[in-house]
This record gives sequence, structure tokens and C-alpha cells, in this order.
Amino acid sequence: MIKAIDTGSGPAIVWIHGFPLSSASFEPQLSIPGARHIVPDLPGFGASDPPSGAMSMDDYADAIAGSMQSLGIASATLAGVSMGGYIVFAMMRRHPSLASSVILIDTKESPDSPDAREGRAKTAEAVSRDGVDSVISAMYPKMLTPETIALADWRAETVMRAMRSASVPGVTAALAAMASRPDSAETIRNSAIPLLAVVGDQDAITPPADSERMASLAADGTLAVISDAAHLSNVERPAEFNRTVQAYLARLR
Ligand code: MLT
Repeated sequence: MIKAIDTGSGPAIVWIHGFPLSSASFEPQLSIPGARHIVPDLPGFGASDPPSGAMSMDDYADAIAGSMQSLGIASATLAGVSMGGYIVFAMMRRHPSLASSVILIDTKESPDSPDAREGRAKTAEAVSRDGVDSVISAMYPKMLTPETIALADWRAETVMRAMRSASVPGVTAALAAMASRPDSAETIRNSAIPLLAVVGDQDAITPPADSERMASLAADGTLAVISDAAHLSNVERPAEFNRTVQAYLARLR
């Protein structure tokens, strides 16, 4: 069973972290009032045990569904950042009744290109041989804008702390799962679940065009662009991000 933070009261929001991060990357969202915040650590990240073997996006989705069930949560807003968004798509396919709405943060519905898949396999080889440091060094500069990284404040510390908990089995399993994830365009198109796509205007991994496309594919899609933010817009601009989420959920209710 994966471990999850469970704090606050009200309608539940399940926050699903990205790669190679942990629940710590959602600390700035725990102050959003009037919500029960469930923040799982994926297998091999944060406080959760490493996976016992290969993982797919479906496996992560089932693990989170199991965690929601054990916490007595029948439905929630499912919010995933980047790889967490890929898991939200798997939950929309496999456990649609668990999602009252979805928030897709700095993510995309499209699958890996052949080149990206090859890159993931090479990264997994390097991580198996040398440990997780190389993947952390490669990913860290893309998470926040250079201006925020230069400030070296609590945001940089939060991202680095979230990454430092990554384990070799967690990272290699996630790389393989991301490489084999399907195209989720039809998942969005065929769903009536309200969808908010939030993106940092300076996100180089999943640029605003990806979120614009996801919002326009959805029957009930909304787009929000956060200024002066890179890939982890929820950490980099927490006040604007949290205001956006609160306003969206208030409108739905
Ligand atoms: C993430 O932030 O979860 C990753 O950048 C996603 C990816 O590599 O596709």
C-alpha cells in the first residue's frame, strides 16, 4: 500500500506528484482551505516502498484508487502534475467514477516519441548503474525558472527535497511506465468530467500549447496560464496557482 498525506476537511482533492518528485512538491497546496488534501507518494518515491517489479500508468492508477478506497473517498478532484497527469488519464479510463473533476498541471495527453522512449531507456540504464543523481541534476533546472533557482529560496529547497527521496527502483519503474504510456486524447474527448488545465507560461517540458490542446479537447475544459512559472507552477507561484484552483472548484460547486 502506498503512503499518503491526509489533511484538511471538505471535498477531497487527490494531488498526484510528477517525476522524480514526491508528495513534498504539493506542500504549498495544503493551505487551500475547505478541502481534504490526499497526497500519495508513488512507489519508490517519498515515504512509499519501492515497487516490487515493473509498473505501468494503470498500476499507479490502481494503487491510488486503492488508497482512496481505504481512506473512504468515493470521489475527488484528481489533480496530477506532469507524470501525475499521465496517471490521472489512466484513472479516467479505469476508475472514472472516482473523479468528480480533474486538474491537469503542466502535463500533456500525447505519448512519448520514439526518440523520447530511447532517451528514457538510456536514462534508466544510467540510473541503474550510477544511482539517481544524474536524473535529479538533469530535471532540477527545468522545474523552476532560472530567476527562481537563482533566488535559492524555499521553492528551490522544496523541489530538491522532493527529488532527493527518489529511489533507483522508483525512478527506473517510472521511466518505463512513462515510455509505454498511451495517447490520452480520446480519453479526454470521450469524458464528460470537468477539466482544468493549468500551465506555467515558461514550462519548457510541457509548454502552454499542450494545455491549450487538452482544454480544447475536453467537453468541459478550462485553461489557466500562470505567469513567470516553469514546469512546477504550483510550487513556483503558489498564491496564483491556489487562487486559480479555488476559483475553479468554487465555480464547479
Ligand atoms: C514530470 O515532471 O513528471 C516529467 O517531466 C514527465 C516526463 O518526463 O514526461
